[in-house]
Amino acid sequence: MNEAIRPGPENPPQATSTPHLAVIVPTFNERDNVTTLFRRLEAALAGVSWEVIFVDDNSPDGTWDVVRAMAREDSRVRCIRRIGRRGLSGACIEGILASSAPYAAVIDADLQHDERQLPKMLALLQGGEADLVVGSRYIAGGSAESFDKQRAGISALATEVAKRVLRVKIADPMSGFFMIRRDRFEQLAPQLSTQGFKILLDIVATARGDLRVKEIPYRFGSRLHGESKLDSTVALDFLGLVLAKLTGDVVSLRFLLFAMVGSTGLLVHLAALFVALEVFGLPFPEAQACGALVAMTSNFILNNFLTYRDQRLKGFSILRGLLLFYLVCSVGLFANVGVAFSVYDQEPIWWLAGAAGALMGVVWNYAMSGLFVWRKR
Ligand code: GDD
Ligand code: MN
Repeated sequence: MNEAIRPGPENPPQATSTPHLAVIVPTFNERDNVTTLFRRLEAALAGVSWEVIFVDDNSPDGTWDVVRAMAREDSRVRCIRRIGRRGLSGACIEGILASSAPYAAVIDADLQHDERQLPKMLALLQGGEADLVVGSRYIAGGSAESFDKQRAGISALATEVAKRVLRVKIADPMSGFFMIRRDRFEQLAPQLSTQGFKILLDIVATARGDLRVKEIPYRFGSRLHGESKLDSTVALDFLGLVLAKLTGDVVSLRFLLFAMVGSTGLLVHLAALFVALEVFGLPFPEAQACGALVAMTSNFILNNFLTYRDQRLKGFSILRGLLLFYLVCSVGLFANVGVAFSVYDQEPIWWLAGAAGALMGVVWNYAMSGLFVWRKR
């Protein structure tokens, strides 16, 4: 090493300043794509001071390992490896908040988005013309040719719903490609849902028209390697997000899913009760207990798959969780009956008392499940 530049008291290592732009890339099983993406970012962002933050949910294919290797070679590459968590929105939020750059972009790892638009997006933000720039498939010059008929239909439907119900004004609120001023994002972040896919829709709906948005067209391409992680639960997530935003965030997406699962539990209970009575000829009290047990079990399984899929219990924890869930629900039943009784005492309207009891039960079960069954690690 050259004596003159050896770090020491007279030559303190130089601190470099914060990059201007942070590019956030959520990844799950994108091992074969991340290197290509990095090269393309490098080409597209020549002349800009930037960093790229990969937020990987502990991909089984070891994406994080590939990213670490890139980071050792180039300090512009950073890696957040999240363990025990899943979710595109949550990953994006965490990535943006991990940077101190004044501007943050979100781009998919699979090269379906067009990184060559990034300098244009940055220029619009720096020019002060917008707080948020969206890469849009649905304005002149943009397209989503890689979509098959079914996916195109679903995307169009969701876009219509978002526009009408949430009064979102932009052409492509379902886009996953955008750039935002970090200070504005930081203000909105506490109200955003970490669950689900629709981070941009969430941002725009949460801001309630208080963000200056510009859209620029791009062509949504085909995935380079691997496959899409969007599955049928995305529709449910989307519905939940729309409902949560409609109720001004009084009810969270998770609570809605929990309540929806609870209502399926009622049907399961009745079906099991019927089978126990009619098929197995059990006396009513035993049959009713059977119904409750089956319903609690099915609620637990559904909640583990849907409501808490980002914190899904696996292996031995499933059994422990199930037993705790039984316990929580049993106490919830007491709370339910107690509230229903006291309401009925005041005002003997059966459906009012029944509904109050049921609401108490679900709120209790939800709160306690979050604390004890699917607690955040
Ligand atoms: N960290 C993390 N955690 N990343 C994830 C997760 C997750 O649970 N799920 C998906 N990703 C990453 C993928 O690795 C990819 O880089 C990016 O998020 C987009 O996921 P895809 O699986 O490629 O989704 P898509 O192509 O079907 O959907 C894209 O296009 C939609 C527009 O129709 C996404 O950009 C959507 O956000 C967008 O709405
Ligand atoms: Mn994709």
